[in-house]
Amino acid sequence: MVEKAPPPAGGTPPPEILARARAVATELAELDRRYHGEDAPEVSDDVYDALRRELEDLHVRHPTLADLVPFPNLVGAPPARGFRPARHRTPMRSLDDVFDAEAFRAFDLRVRQRLGRSEPVAYVAEPKLDGLALSLTYENGELTRALTRGDGATGEDVSANVRLLRTVPARLRAPAPRLVEIRGEVYIAREDFARLNAAMRARGEKVFANPRNAAAGSLRQLDPAVTASRPLSFCAYALGALEEGDDPATETELLALLDRWGLPVVPEASRQADVEEALVYHDDLGRRRESLPYEIDGAVFKVDDRDAQRRLGETARAPRWAVAYKFPARERTSRVRAVDVQVGRSGALTPVARLDPVELNGAIVRNATLHNFDEVARKDVRVGDTVVVRRAGDVIPEIVSVLLPLRPPDTRAVVPPERCPACGSAVRPRGETRGLYCTGGWHCPAQLRETLRHFVSRHALDVDGLGPRLLDQLVRSGRVRTPADLYRLRAEDLEALERVGPVLAEKLIAALDRSRRTTLERFLIALGIPEVGAVTARLLARRFRTLDALMAAGVEDLAAIAGIGPVGAAAVRDFFADPGNRAVLEDLRALGLVPAPPPEEAGPEGARPWSGRRFVFTGRLSAFGREEAQARVLALGGTVGDRVTRATDYVVAGADPGSKIDEARRLGIRTLEEEEFRLMLAQAEKESGAI
Ligand code: IVH
Repeated sequence: MVEKAPPPAGGTPPPEILARARAVATELAELDRRYHGEDAPEVSDDVYDALRRELEDLHVRHPTLADLVPFPNLVGAPPARGFRPARHRTPMRSLDDVFDAEAFRAFDLRVRQRLGRSEPVAYVAEPKLDGLALSLTYENGELTRALTRGDGATGEDVSANVRLLRTVPARLRAPAPRLVEIRGEVYIAREDFARLNAAMRARGEKVFANPRNAAAGSLRQLDPAVTASRPLSFCAYALGALEEGDDPATETELLALLDRWGLPVVPEASRQADVEEALVYHDDLGRRRESLPYEIDGAVFKVDDRDAQRRLGETARAPRWAVAYKFPARERTSRVRAVDVQVGRSGALTPVARLDPVELNGAIVRNATLHNFDEVARKDVRVGDTVVVRRAGDVIPEIVSVLLPLRPPDTRAVVPPERCPACGSAVRPRGETRGLYCTGGWHCPAQLRETLRHFVSRHALDVDGLGPRLLDQLVRSGRVRTPADLYRLRAEDLEALERVGPVLAEKLIAALDRSRRTTLERFLIALGIPEVGAVTARLLARRFRTLDALMAAGVEDLAAIAGIGPVGAAAVRDFFADPGNRAVLEDLRALGLVPAPPPEEAGPEGARPWSGRRFVFTGRLSAFGREEAQARVLALGGTVGDRVTRATDYVVAGADPGSKIDEARRLGIRTLEEEEFRLMLAQAEKESGAI
């Protein structure tokens, strides 16, 4: 991002910019030291990258900063105590990163320009494994030394530990050269990581933050026996020095050679004929990211022709013939401008941070939820802080943590309100989490507006055109005090609102009218009963068929439904026992809202091919919404759960799945990618004659 009007070159940057740059540079150096030195970084690579880019941006915008606050020298750490330092025969370089297609195409263009070629250049594409780099020296086929990367020139001798790794062969299969340095990544597969952490936890030991930390921590153990007990894997992807051996002509041949020597090579590696094919590979790998057995953070592209590689050469930091094209960040940094309090449908007061806009997973994020005030206190979030923001799954962005070293002196604390900011009612802690709630009920305009919004939303009564602005006006004017009041509105009431003419008013009345003929399932969703989402609403509608039958049901009848637990049953019971709710329901009925029962159950077992199969969804689906996918599973006789348990048959993983996927892996439950799920669904629907 470049500022519209940069200050004249040579001007001294303003003091706050200078202070910020200093703080960021110091933090970068500190993170780098931890990353390389102690295996205990406090933040993710995404955050590290974000800070790097912030300092780069500041340098671009304030050219004189480069001298005042230069980029810290981030070339890795010197060897740690405990391991003997040893020099690499050829330096171990890093890779330059790109973050979007434009920068990747620019890389390709530079490669072709340097090579003086107009025709396309082919690349070998590989996943960028998230572990730590290792250099293995084999002399006459025997493993003689294993070094970590260290600062690139000198690494730590971890030979004793590496000799105990099952995936690193002690000798190469013939014919081996006199000497060869083989570079690759030590990593821990996801399943192994989950198992390792579970075991650590069981023993009361500290768990690892992620597989990369676990791999680094496990390899750099002073007692090789400990390393041997850890599930470390290795994968080879490059050569260093090579003496008296045939140098492969291409990367493709190099990978084949490594394989012939008996070294593990990533199966996902493949040759791409040109930059456009490479882009497709990157996107495809990104989609498969979560279903790969190991963690990756991007794709690496290397010019296939090794002779061309030599002509391109390298900089001190990285080769010019390779690049890491990183996946979009799941975390970014931003600054908290303000913290507002939102009042939800249930009266829950949620602190929401207003942020400097940042792009996350392709969307611009301006707000992030802080969930509740305990969380604000626990995470110690203050207005003015630099925070880590994450968007995981299809949930709202959230604040992960505060970067305390970047806290400026003038931050402001976030104070929980004593009264509801929307209606001034008293605020009380409620529920298991003791979160704060407004006690105003539907007297609170915010609670009422949110209730109405939900009531008319697409999956509920689906009243087209009745958006939040109009609802807000209706609430503020006092015309609508309960959802039933919507059905008392006349065209002239609506015309009295801002920007509503006769045509729109008629349309809204017609839409409200249509919504009277709804189904019990939608009606139950609309009521916003705690614990009742689309899935439970469908179960209830199927079992009871009419509102009267449901209202008469006892808690045991409710809890007897497969898929409804005691908490859900109690919530439904309580909702219908409440006199206020009963009055609104009576009102709605009197106004013509009599929801229709669902169609009779689809016949025999054969027509319901998924009967008994239990599904759990996680992440964003692209071909259809979560609700639709769930509804179709139910229609086939399957059930949908919220939590992954041993009884779950399938976990369907969309984009950015949550922790459910880890749980599934831990329990060995089959995970389906969206595409796989879609095919299964189509097949089953065909069998059942549904479509
Ligand atoms: S090639 C000269 N290939 O990424 C080429 N590196 O950010 C050097 N990495 O230090 C590396 N997967 O630890 C290469 N398929 C892959 C890789 C890979 C992961 C790591 C490696 C390197 C770092 C650079």
